[in-house]
Amino acid sequence: MRTATAYAHPNIALVKYWGKSNDELNIPATPSLAITLGDLRTTTRVEESTSDTVVLDDVQVQDAKINAWLAHLRKQFNLPPLRVESSSDFPANSGLASSASGFAALTLAISSAFDLGLSLQEQCDWARLGSGSAGRSLHGGFVALEPQGTSCRVSQVLGESDWDLSIAIAITSDRAKSTGSTAGMTASRDTSPFYEGWLRATSEAFDSGLRAVKNMDFEALAQISEASCRQMHALMLSTEPALIYWNAATLNCIEEVTRMRDDGLDVFYTIDAGSHLKAVCRASVAKQVRDRLRGVEGVYSVLASNIGGPAQLLG
Ligand code: PMV
Repeated sequence: MRTATAYAHPNIALVKYWGKSNDELNIPATPSLAITLGDLRTTTRVEESTSDTVVLDDVQVQDAKINAWLAHLRKQFNLPPLRVESSSDFPANSGLASSASGFAALTLAISSAFDLGLSLQEQCDWARLGSGSAGRSLHGGFVALEPQGTSCRVSQVLGESDWDLSIAIAITSDRAKSTGSTAGMTASRDTSPFYEGWLRATSEAFDSGLRAVKNMDFEALAQISEASCRQMHALMLSTEPALIYWNAATLNCIEEVTRMRDDGLDVFYTIDAGSHLKAVCRASVAKQVRDRLRGVEGVYSVLASNIGGPAQLLG
């Protein structure tokens, strides 16, 4: 019986993408730049079965995204019915990129179990078809994803040990996010008067973000990342109906990160399609940053992560 297990880490974008240029091929409209969360992971096992079955975090589900993705894969490869079991050691569907790590681990596991002979770039293309940011989770460290025609080039900018940064994740809600990223991106493209401006600003932010990462320039990266985050949420707010992912605790955390920086700590924030806030800081101040975020009103808990490596096969 053919089977394989792989894991991948979620990633968070510092220069974010929100909007696609090609819905069918799931091509982001802009490049993006992310870091890999090494202490969080999704582990996925695939095995040949008698019918397609998907089990997520121990619950059997009908997952439209995974079913559509498998149907695409089967147009190119002769695959038997599959049992897919996937679990994450962090909250799913809340803006912590569980679909990115999930599709990265799934692609790697299927590619290995059925000897699909996919190069790393081809694995990134397949993973991206499932979730726009998933190609980034196959690499570790700092990762760039750049749309190029009908594909996207994914490349590592810095390895996981090159820059000693740390991430604190303030969990600010116990609910799943209200609007998924695919529907939200379509709505923003169709209704926001700011969409074209967002695309222009993001392409520029990508070039300067790439430079800041290569130069390990913390201050520049902090400014570029926070601006990209706020611009994405401004676009979301200007969508009809409005996409409001933040809650009161998210705003409290933003204030606390700003205060920490005023107090001399090297730290900045970023927030995805959910209410949790991720604070990126120098490893030397990581404990202080976590402790201060734990004290913020509305924060349930704080997860810690270092920068992680690429997706891996477990066997
Ligand atoms: O991977 P997707 O298509 O679900 O979209 C991810 C969107 C953000 O996390 C908000 C931004 C990003 O670039 O990761």
